[in-house]
Amino acid sequence: MKEQIKVLLSEEEVNARVKELGKKITEEYAGESVHIVCILKGAVFFACELAKRIEVPVSLDFMSVSSYQGTTSTGEVQIIKDLEHSIEGKNVIVVEDIVDTGRTLHYLLSNLSSRNPKSLKLCTLLDKPDRRVVDVNVNYTGFDIPDEFVVGFGLDYDQKYRNLPYIGVVEFVEK
Ligand code: IMP
Ligand code: MG
Repeated sequence: MKEQIKVLLSEEEVNARVKELGKKITEEYAGESVHIVCILKGAVFFACELAKRIEVPVSLDFMSVSSYQGTTSTGEVQIIKDLEHSIEGKNVIVVEDIVDTGRTLHYLLSNLSSRNPKSLKLCTLLDKPDRRVVDVNVNYTGFDIPDEFVVGFGLDYDQKYRNLPYIGVVEFVEK
Protein backbone atom coordinates (compact mmCIF):
# COMPACT_ATOMS: atom_id res chain seq x y z
CA MET A 1 0.00 0.00 0.00
CA LYS A 2 1.17 3.46 -0.91
CA GLU A 3 0.24 6.62 1.01
CA GLN A 4 -1.21 9.57 -0.77
CA ILE A 5 -2.13 12.95 0.72
CA LYS A 6 -5.36 14.69 -0.26
CA VAL A 7 -5.53 18.40 0.59
CA LEU A 8 -8.20 19.19 3.17
CA LEU A 9 -7.20 22.74 4.13
CA SER A 10 -4.88 24.69 1.87
CA GLU A 11 -1.86 26.66 3.04
CA GLU A 12 -3.76 29.90 2.34
CA GLU A 13 -6.80 28.80 4.37
CA VAL A 14 -4.68 27.73 7.33
CA ASN A 15 -2.58 30.89 7.31
CA ALA A 16 -5.67 33.11 7.09
CA ARG A 17 -7.30 31.34 10.02
CA VAL A 18 -4.14 31.52 12.15
CA LYS A 19 -4.05 35.26 11.52
CA GLU A 20 -7.68 35.58 12.68
CA LEU A 21 -6.98 33.60 15.83
CA GLY A 22 -3.98 35.83 16.58
CA LYS A 23 -6.15 38.90 16.19
CA LYS A 24 -8.81 37.48 18.49
CA ILE A 25 -6.26 36.60 21.17
CA THR A 26 -4.62 40.04 20.82
CA GLU A 27 -7.99 41.69 21.45
CA GLU A 28 -8.96 39.46 24.35
CA TYR A 29 -5.63 39.86 26.15
CA ALA A 30 -5.22 43.60 25.53
CA GLY A 31 -3.05 45.12 28.28
CA GLU A 32 -1.91 41.66 29.44
CA SER A 33 0.73 39.20 28.38
CA VAL A 34 0.30 35.65 27.17
CA HIS A 35 2.29 32.53 28.08
CA ILE A 36 1.99 29.91 25.36
CA VAL A 37 2.38 26.28 26.39
CA CYS A 38 3.11 24.45 23.17
CA ILE A 39 2.52 20.71 23.14
CA LEU A 40 5.40 18.96 21.36
CA LYS A 41 5.85 18.03 18.66
CA GLY A 42 2.66 18.46 16.67
CA ALA A 43 1.77 21.97 17.83
CA VAL A 44 5.17 23.51 17.11
CA PHE A 45 4.39 24.77 13.61
CA PHE A 46 1.02 26.19 14.65
CA ALA A 47 2.36 27.76 17.88
CA CYS A 48 5.11 29.62 16.00
CA GLU A 49 2.74 30.97 13.36
CA LEU A 50 0.16 31.92 15.98
CA ALA A 51 2.72 33.63 18.24
CA LYS A 52 3.81 35.79 15.29
CA ARG A 53 0.22 37.02 14.93
CA ILE A 54 -0.27 37.95 18.60
CA GLU A 55 0.48 41.58 19.34
CA VAL A 56 0.64 41.49 23.15
CA PRO A 57 3.85 40.28 24.86
CA VAL A 58 4.27 36.51 24.38
CA SER A 59 6.45 34.00 26.20
CA LEU A 60 6.75 30.35 25.21
CA ASP A 61 7.31 27.04 26.92
CA PHE A 62 7.09 23.46 25.74
CA MET A 63 5.71 20.25 27.09
CA SER A 64 5.71 16.79 25.62
CA VAL A 65 3.14 14.12 26.34
CA SER A 66 2.76 10.64 24.96
CA SER A 67 0.54 10.35 21.91
CA TYR A 68 -0.39 8.03 19.09
CA GLN A 69 1.33 4.97 17.76
CA GLY A 70 0.37 4.88 14.07
CA THR A 71 -3.21 6.02 13.60
CA THR A 72 -4.87 4.72 16.78
CA SER A 73 -4.96 6.22 20.27
CA THR A 74 -3.53 4.22 23.14
CA GLY A 75 -5.64 6.23 25.56
CA GLU A 76 -2.75 6.67 27.99
CA VAL A 77 -1.33 10.08 28.81
CA GLN A 78 2.16 10.49 30.17
CA ILE A 79 4.38 13.57 30.61
CA ILE A 80 7.60 12.96 28.69
CA LYS A 81 8.99 16.48 29.05
CA ASP A 82 7.64 18.95 31.58
CA LEU A 83 7.65 22.76 31.40
CA GLU A 84 10.84 24.68 32.09
CA HIS A 85 9.14 27.65 33.77
CA SER A 86 6.46 28.01 36.42
CA ILE A 87 3.05 29.05 35.10
CA GLU A 88 1.88 30.49 38.43
CA GLY A 89 0.12 33.82 37.93
CA LYS A 90 0.44 33.68 34.14
CA ASN A 91 -2.18 33.90 31.41
CA VAL A 92 -1.58 30.47 29.93
CA ILE A 93 -2.80 29.43 26.51
CA VAL A 94 -2.20 25.76 25.79
CA VAL A 95 -1.56 25.43 22.06
CA GLU A 96 -2.30 22.03 20.56
CA ASP A 97 -2.44 20.66 17.03
CA ILE A 98 -5.64 18.66 17.33
CA VAL A 99 -8.24 17.58 19.88
CA ASP A 100 -9.43 14.09 19.05
CA THR A 101 -10.77 11.90 21.88
CA GLY A 102 -9.95 14.73 24.28
CA ARG A 103 -7.98 12.45 26.62
CA THR A 104 -4.68 14.30 26.24
CA LEU A 105 -6.13 17.75 26.81
CA HIS A 106 -8.44 16.66 29.60
CA TYR A 107 -5.44 15.34 31.50
CA LEU A 108 -3.18 18.27 30.61
CA LEU A 109 -5.65 21.00 31.51
CA SER A 110 -6.37 19.53 34.92
CA ASN A 111 -2.65 19.04 35.52
CA LEU A 112 -1.86 22.65 34.52
CA SER A 113 -4.76 24.21 36.41
CA SER A 114 -3.38 22.74 39.65
CA ARG A 115 -0.25 24.86 39.09
CA ASN A 116 -2.19 28.11 39.76
CA PRO A 117 -2.03 30.03 36.48
CA LYS A 118 -3.84 33.39 36.45
CA SER A 119 -5.93 32.06 33.58
CA LEU A 120 -5.86 28.91 31.47
CA LYS A 121 -7.23 28.56 27.96
CA LEU A 122 -6.91 26.10 25.14
CA CYS A 123 -6.26 26.92 21.51
CA THR A 124 -6.27 24.09 18.98
CA LEU A 125 -5.64 24.26 15.26
CA LEU A 126 -8.00 21.37 14.57
CA ASP A 127 -10.88 19.72 16.38
CA LYS A 128 -12.62 16.44 15.57
CA PRO A 129 -15.79 16.86 17.68
CA ASP A 130 -17.27 13.55 16.49
CA ARG A 131 -14.42 11.64 18.12
CA ARG A 132 -14.78 13.11 21.60
CA VAL A 133 -14.70 10.59 24.49
CA VAL A 134 -13.78 12.98 27.31
CA ASP A 135 -15.22 16.49 27.62
CA VAL A 136 -12.76 19.34 26.93
CA ASN A 137 -13.47 23.05 26.92
CA VAL A 138 -11.86 24.46 23.77
CA ASN A 139 -11.57 28.27 23.81
CA TYR A 140 -10.08 28.85 20.35
CA THR A 141 -10.44 26.48 17.40
CA GLY A 142 -8.90 26.86 13.96
CA PHE A 143 -11.13 24.37 12.16
CA ASP A 144 -13.61 21.63 13.03
CA ILE A 145 -12.81 18.67 10.78
CA PRO A 146 -14.48 15.32 10.06
CA ASP A 147 -13.28 12.05 11.56
CA GLU A 148 -10.34 11.46 9.23
CA PHE A 149 -6.66 11.05 9.96
CA VAL A 150 -4.89 14.24 8.94
CA VAL A 151 -1.27 15.32 8.54
CA GLY A 152 0.68 18.49 7.87
CA PHE A 153 1.27 21.81 9.64
CA GLY A 154 2.92 19.81 12.44
CA LEU A 155 0.68 16.74 12.41
CA ASP A 156 2.34 13.46 11.58
CA TYR A 157 1.68 9.94 10.46
CA ASP A 158 4.46 7.84 12.02
CA GLN A 159 6.60 11.01 12.27
CA LYS A 160 6.18 11.83 8.59
CA TYR A 161 4.52 14.81 6.86
CA ARG A 162 4.84 17.32 9.72
CA ASN A 163 6.52 19.76 7.33
CA LEU A 164 3.64 19.98 4.83
CA PRO A 165 2.48 23.62 4.74
CA TYR A 166 -1.18 22.51 4.44
CA ILE A 167 -3.50 19.99 6.13
CA GLY A 168 -4.13 16.79 4.24
CA VAL A 169 -5.88 13.45 4.68
CA VAL A 170 -3.81 10.27 4.41
CA GLU A 171 -5.17 7.88 1.82
CA PHE A 172 -3.86 4.38 1.24
CA VAL A 173 -3.84 3.25 -2.36
CA GLU A 174 -2.84 -0.01 -4.06
CA LYS A 175 0.56 0.29 -5.66
P1 IMP B 1 -6.59 12.88 21.96
O1 IMP B 1 -6.00 12.67 23.31
O2 IMP B 1 -7.27 11.65 21.47
O3 IMP B 1 -7.47 14.08 21.86
O4 IMP B 1 -5.39 12.98 20.97
C1 IMP B 1 -4.71 14.11 20.71
C2 IMP B 1 -3.41 13.78 19.99
O5 IMP B 1 -3.57 12.68 19.08
C3 IMP B 1 -2.98 14.93 19.14
O6 IMP B 1 -2.17 15.81 19.87
C4 IMP B 1 -2.23 14.25 18.01
O7 IMP B 1 -0.89 14.06 18.37
C5 IMP B 1 -2.89 12.91 17.87
N1 IMP B 1 -3.87 12.88 16.76
C6 IMP B 1 -5.20 12.78 16.84
N2 IMP B 1 -5.80 12.79 15.63
C7 IMP B 1 -4.78 12.91 14.74
C8 IMP B 1 -4.76 13.01 13.31
O8 IMP B 1 -5.77 13.00 12.58
N3 IMP B 1 -3.52 13.13 12.76
C9 IMP B 1 -2.38 13.18 13.48
N4 IMP B 1 -2.36 13.10 14.83
C10 IMP B 1 -3.56 12.97 15.45
MG1 MG C 1 -0.10 16.09 19.84
